[in-house]
Amino acid sequence: MLKGKKIVLGVCGGIAAYKAVELLRLYIKAGAEVFVVMTRHAQEFVTPLTFQTLSGNPVHTDLFNLYQEKEIGHISLADRADLFVLAPATANVIGKLACGIADDLLTTTVMATKAPVLVVPAMNVNMWENSIYRENEERLRRHGYQIMEPATGYLACGWEGKGKLPDPSAIFAASEALLVPKDLAGEVILVTAGPTCEPLDPVRYMSNNSSGKMGYAIAKAAQQRGARVFLVSGPVALEPPSGVEYYPVKRAQEMLATVERLWEPTTVLIKAAAVADYRPREVAEGKIKKGEGESLMLELVKNPDILAQLGAKKGNRLLVGFAAETDDLLANARKKLTAKNLDLIVANDIAQPGAGFDVDTNIVRLLTPDGDVEALPLLAKSEVATILLDRIASLLCTRRGSVE
Ligand code: PMT
Repeated sequence: MLKGKKIVLGVCGGIAAYKAVELLRLYIKAGAEVFVVMTRHAQEFVTPLTFQTLSGNPVHTDLFNLYQEKEIGHISLADRADLFVLAPATANVIGKLACGIADDLLTTTVMATKAPVLVVPAMNVNMWENSIYRENEERLRRHGYQIMEPATGYLACGWEGKGKLPDPSAIFAASEALLVPKDLAGEVILVTAGPTCEPLDPVRYMSNNSSGKMGYAIAKAAQQRGARVFLVSGPVALEPPSGVEYYPVKRAQEMLATVERLWEPTTVLIKAAAVADYRPREVAEGKIKKGEGESLMLELVKNPDILAQLGAKKGNRLLVGFAAETDDLLANARKKLTAKNLDLIVANDIAQPGAGFDVDTNIVRLLTPDGDVEALPLLAKSEVATILLDRIASLLCTRRGSVE
């Protein structure tokens, strides 16, 4: 997302300035070109040389430096930015911006830019709660600045509370989100992810190897593209992406009940979850004891097919299923596409290395009811998510166009 983008990183004078170095490294690793602007106070905490060495670009510090102004004036810095990030942003700089004061290079450049501005405050908790500061933040928000919530914890000043700079990876994710086109705004996308766990007794269950990575990548990308996202997830070790509405579930029946509860406002359903087709008929009240015999019989009963049930009452919604197959990939996927009344099915050939369960990549084919098959190469699950959402966006566009 950030590859080739020009980011101006404004660093203000606070102890968290050292974390801006890590943020800069993340941007560079993602292929962005970064221009750092530092306030005078920021240079008391970290030297410009550190940022200059890591960014490969001169660091800008002084509004009235004839050399810097000749090389790249503050207006051209403001013009060239695809994104402006202020991290850490102090109460002082936020206060100046809220009042339209441009008395140094950083504030002047921010005020001259037309790029989206992400402000990441970091300060003492009492300053953050101060009513004047709160009004300043609110004013910036009203003027279209994106403000991140600080993290809570032990602060360098000795206090505990809100005011820490969020983790650089969270600032990175927020930066990406600002640059994504919001082509799914207005959609309500329900994504299911992960495995279901069907209990045998209080300590044992039947499940599968789904890590949730595919579904979570879709949920994150959909949220960044402006959709309201419900993420209904079986038990996985992943953090839900920020900004999604998260519904943890365990059993298939619970997943069905949750999806039905969220069904009314949903416009697109994407079922990446690996739902157990069967569950034990009985769940033992106590732990099943090892018996004398060499085997143990378990009776299984069919779980509801969530996607098929919803396919039968889909209305105007767009339904996308997944098919995890070890053989006859296309024939099996086609059967599911028709039987479940889907608009698109993502067939993953889980017999291939790098595809399917519990890996960071996938190899998929996208099938539509008119017989189209799009084969994608081995891609990161985040890239599969982007392409899948591109196809969904264009299906929605065609559908909306034909209704109007
Ligand atoms: O989670 P990861 O480790 O990233 O792995 C990703 C994945 C391999 C789990 C994912 O890419 C995938 O293929 N998910 C669907 C797996 C699956 O259950 O496929 P299926 O062919 O059994 O089911 C077909 C479709 O019906 C799926 O959309 C499934 O969610 C749905 N289904 C299945 C059974 C059932 N009882 N209810 C359902 O809704």
